[in-house]
Amino acid sequence: MDFVNEDNITEIAMRRWATAKNPRLAKVMPALIKHLHAFAKEVELTPEEWMAGIQWITAVGQISDDKRMEAILASDVFGLSMLVVMMNGRTPDGATPPTVLGPFHIEGSPEMDKDADLGAGIEGEKLYMSGVVRDLDGRPVPGAALDVWQADAEGAYEAQIPDSDVRLRGIFHADAAGRYGLWTIAPKGYAIPMDGPVGHLIAQTDISHYRPAHVHAMVTADGYQPLVTHLFRQGAPYLENDVVFGVRAPLITPFRRHEPGPGPGGQAPSEPYSTVDYDFVLAPAGQT
Ligand code: BEZ
Ligand code: FE
Repeated sequence: MDFVNEDNITEIAMRRWATAKNPRLAKVMPALIKHLHAFAKEVELTPEEWMAGIQWITAVGQISDDKRMEAILASDVFGLSMLVVMMNGRTPDGATPPTVLGPFHIEGSPEMDKDADLGAGIEGEKLYMSGVVRDLDGRPVPGAALDVWQADAEGAYEAQIPDSDVRLRGIFHADAAGRYGLWTIAPKGYAIPMDGPVGHLIAQTDISHYRPAHVHAMVTADGYQPLVTHLFRQGAPYLENDVVFGVRAPLITPFRRHEPGPGPGGQAPSEPYSTVDYDFVLAPAGQT
């Protein structure tokens, strides 16, 4: 019988985990073990460092709940979320590219009418967002659903505000011509949560912990690949060093300034406001 030594433990552990009943798990687990062992060997991991790592993972779990998603945040700042998004979202040329979901999406947002105001009663510069949901040939996609969510002018998402009412999120539908429209407030750049284990790790580096101003959208329609993406404000700080690597060139869009007065979507803002005109292009289901 073979007992383990430093040279054979990786292979023995890999073989053991290759017995997983699920064939995908039987492939994933041995590969994970191979790379974990290689990592430990490469850095010559000490017991103290290993224990610090275990404590960090434990803290990620302990601070998490149904609203605080520290493990997603960890994956995001390590670039793993964006790598997985890009590997699995190789959309055809011309389709709007996906980016990270992030930890602040809340399922089951309220259905809103076209041109409804997500930002009603919330402090911030008014913003009207509109455009067409199209297919790769430029044809409109009537009835496409747009699940929209964003932070407020302080950079806070509903999920970060204890006992908050529904805030800055809603589901809109494209009309018969594929057009969508909504009022909201202009997003600002914000810091990711720095009060947990992810933030404590980042604080030991020179990494900027900010994200550039953006609005999240999840666009879905029958027969098309679901699109999870953001629109980023052109010229915003941190576009080049987004802490979660989420920026992709086609997602950067101008926010055009307008003087107060009659505006789109039946509103006449009394302060200067901005508009975004952006068409989302969906790839057909099953095509990459
Ligand atoms: C966000 O945009 O909401 C977000 C994404 C990744 C990490 C933190 C925040
Ligand atoms: Fe965000």
